[in-house]
Amino acid sequence: MSAVTLLILGATGDLTGRYLLPALAELAGAGHLGDDIQIVGVGREPWDDEQFRSHAAERFERHAADLSPSARASVIQRLRYVGGDVTDPAVLGEAERGAGGPLVLYLALPPAVFAPAIQAAAALRLPAGSRIVVEKPFGTDLPSARALNELLRGHLPEASVFRMDHFLGKQTVQNILGLRFANRLFEPLWCAEHVAGVDIVWDETVALEGRAGYYDRAGALLDMVQNHLLQLMALVAMERPAGLGEQPLRDAKVDLFRAVRRLSPEEVAALTVRARYTADGNGADRVPDYAAEDGVDPARGTETFVEVTLFIDNPRWQGVPFRLRTGKALGADRREVVIRLRPTDRLPFGQAHEPGANTLTLAMDPDRLIADIALNGTGDPFDLEPARWQLDLAPQDLSAYSRLLLDVLTGDPALSIRGDEAEECWRIVEPVVDAWETGMSPLQTYPARSGGPAPRRV
Ligand code: BG6
Repeated sequence: MSAVTLLILGATGDLTGRYLLPALAELAGAGHLGDDIQIVGVGREPWDDEQFRSHAAERFERHAADLSPSARASVIQRLRYVGGDVTDPAVLGEAERGAGGPLVLYLALPPAVFAPAIQAAAALRLPAGSRIVVEKPFGTDLPSARALNELLRGHLPEASVFRMDHFLGKQTVQNILGLRFANRLFEPLWCAEHVAGVDIVWDETVALEGRAGYYDRAGALLDMVQNHLLQLMALVAMERPAGLGEQPLRDAKVDLFRAVRRLSPEEVAALTVRARYTADGNGADRVPDYAAEDGVDPARGTETFVEVTLFIDNPRWQGVPFRLRTGKALGADRREVVIRLRPTDRLPFGQAHEPGANTLTLAMDPDRLIADIALNGTGDPFDLEPARWQLDLAPQDLSAYSRLLLDVLTGDPALSIRGDEAEECWRIVEPVVDAWETGMSPLQTYPARSGGPAPRRV
């Protein structure tokens, strides 16, 4: 890796302390953080280097206690700090003083500050090879996403803009490519002739966890579907890319997104479910009603659960429902992509022999590949019985976030979201947002720790 200086704008905030600093320490522990990587934090607090280092040490105690002391020290010792307004070019100039080589500007900031911070950074006349990193949300709707992309394009080539989506750093998400394209066992089956439907499910037991400031304005649709779940859908459904470089891989995803049908208001009413959780339990074990959580404005009607069924208008997937579902405070964690295969005509067995579902499941956290199939099994040799093939995959070496951060530091944007991808994803969710605003698909409730609202029958 060549020398870079990482400027973290928003260095004293939650994102930096909870994700970015631990990811850097993880990279250091795995030998990926060379001595020529410098890190400068820029934040509002009027601290000096030592105060920032103590802050980082405290964050490590809280969020990265499992990482070795030497990995943490390797990050702490290279930290510098500049206090001030990240939208002030003079402050950023002070932060980059002495930097050799390209800059990596990491915007660990609220989206409202993205534009002025990018403008201030542009005044630095960034050295060749410099990069900028933004986290979701990439805009709050299609016009604002376009405006943000326009602004970024005005200062840097697209290949130097990294829009992070940590789902693309998950090994099972990357495994979708090998599984689909390198195995004759699956590749020929991957189409409407054989697949009855695809479920992309991200059920979480965690509730709001003090994130009302962000989440109550986003809701499950924008927090999860607009980005993470659509990315999963693209990898599952896209055509085979000509290669895995940043251009062919991202072109293939964009082509897929373009083929996703925009839902009409009537389809939104028929094909989406939106709901929020109500209280469950007592005492320390209690999950409060979402609407009563600190910082939540119940009048906003924010959903904590969403299910959307989408269709892809291309020859491969014509008529196949892709059901995207996610929710908070549910009864069990379930993170998986389920490919539901059509039944064969089981002629020799007769209709009385129902063996159960024929599915392929890509499960995440823990990572597993599961095939539910039918065999003759025990007893009557001509009777069908359900059986399960399960492959447990080794835990991933680097966390998803660290993997993507390594790509940022080495300058490989293949697993970051390209500007047109982000816009296409907004194009898909925009009609849902609009129809919900006009009262299509009224907000339902579900008790915390339950299975969530009933699915739509498609
Ligand atoms: C984040 C969302 O991007 O992804 C969270 O903001 C969500 O609401 C999280 O819980 C899920 O990702 P993971 O990797 O923790 O399952």
